[in-house]
Amino acid sequence: QQGPAFDVNAMTLTRWVLAQQRTAPSATGDLTQLLNSIQTAVKAIQSAVRKAGIAKLHGISGNTNVQGEEVKKLDVLSNDLFINMLKSSFTTCLLVSEENSSVIQVETERQGKYVVCFDPLDGSSNIDCLVSVGSIFAIYKKQTEGEPTEADALKPGNQLVAAGYALYGSATMMVLAIGKGKGVNGFMYDPSIGEFILTDPNMRIPDKGKIYSINEGYAAEWEEGLKKYVQEKKQPSTGKAYGARYVGSMVADVHRTIKYGGIFMYPATKSAPSGKLRLLYECNPMSFIVTEAGGLATNGTIPILDIVPTGIHQRAPCYLGSKGDVEELLKYLK
Ligand code: AHG
Ligand code: MN
Ligand code: MN
Ligand code: MN
Repeated sequence: QQGPAFDVNAMTLTRWVLAQQRTAPSATGDLTQLLNSIQTAVKAIQSAVRKAGIAKLHGISGNTNVQGEEVKKLDVLSNDLFINMLKSSFTTCLLVSEENSSVIQVETERQGKYVVCFDPLDGSSNIDCLVSVGSIFAIYKKQTEGEPTEADALKPGNQLVAAGYALYGSATMMVLAIGKGKGVNGFMYDPSIGEFILTDPNMRIPDKGKIYSINEGYAAEWEEGLKKYVQEKKQPSTGKAYGARYVGSMVADVHRTIKYGGIFMYPATKSAPSGKLRLLYECNPMSFIVTEAGGLATNGTIPILDIVPTGIHQRAPCYLGSKGDVEELLKYLK
């Protein structure tokens, strides 16, 4: 029977988060408030991304960030939105952003109990050619007393309270994992009411896929085991070859991997011995989400979520996706 033309009882992200809060007797509502402030930042970023070409928001900002990358105008705008919405939620005390070389301490009168690490705009090299980009965030609860310091952010991903991403693709979607057995849930943005609607409840990654995702431009710099693994995917000794898909925006590549299955890899290379992806605001949140969806995420040696960070911008090799595919890869890596 035809669904309702206008859903008068839509399960919005705001409603869903509030409902989860009501199931936790000790909940104060702070995480609800924090997630709603992130939602506001994402709504504003999606609007800016979609009109950037008209609003002259494409192109570079003229400065370089701590990563040594040319910062795009939308990187700056997205970063300012995240910082302002997080600080004004009164639920955070320390922020780590890809775009800020040191930690951002929230002023005392606006401090709350959460530490948030975020990549305000992921895949910025794809903005000007209109390929999907995203935002990524990871949420810790501060475990120490007293003023927040960098040490409060240098926690392994297995201590995360929640993680999520926004994908600004053919549609805008937020995917959120809050642990506590609530799984991974996907919310599609409905611009006609300005809300995210629960369209993908309890997302589970297939046990095995048929797609491998890696930038083969660096193949000459891969370790031998990885070369053999990718060769096996392209010309298998038995069975069908895998398809290759690589967007170059981590959020897009990871979202496809969760939806369709398969494996996403950003390996260590000779020129980048720890790979390129940053542990605190790319590898950890994505690994938390993929793991919550039934997949695996490793740096080639240990689970990514077990890595104890020593620097807020440290990088880690990242292999994540379907359990069967990641387990098969690990047999090839030394
Ligand atoms: P960011 O735009 O936030 O700096 O991240 C870009 C990252 C990630 O999105 C993507 O997976 C990776 O860079 C692509 O790197 P290559 O172009 O080296 O493949
Ligand atoms: Mn960047
Ligand atoms: Mn990124
Ligand atoms: Mn970024």
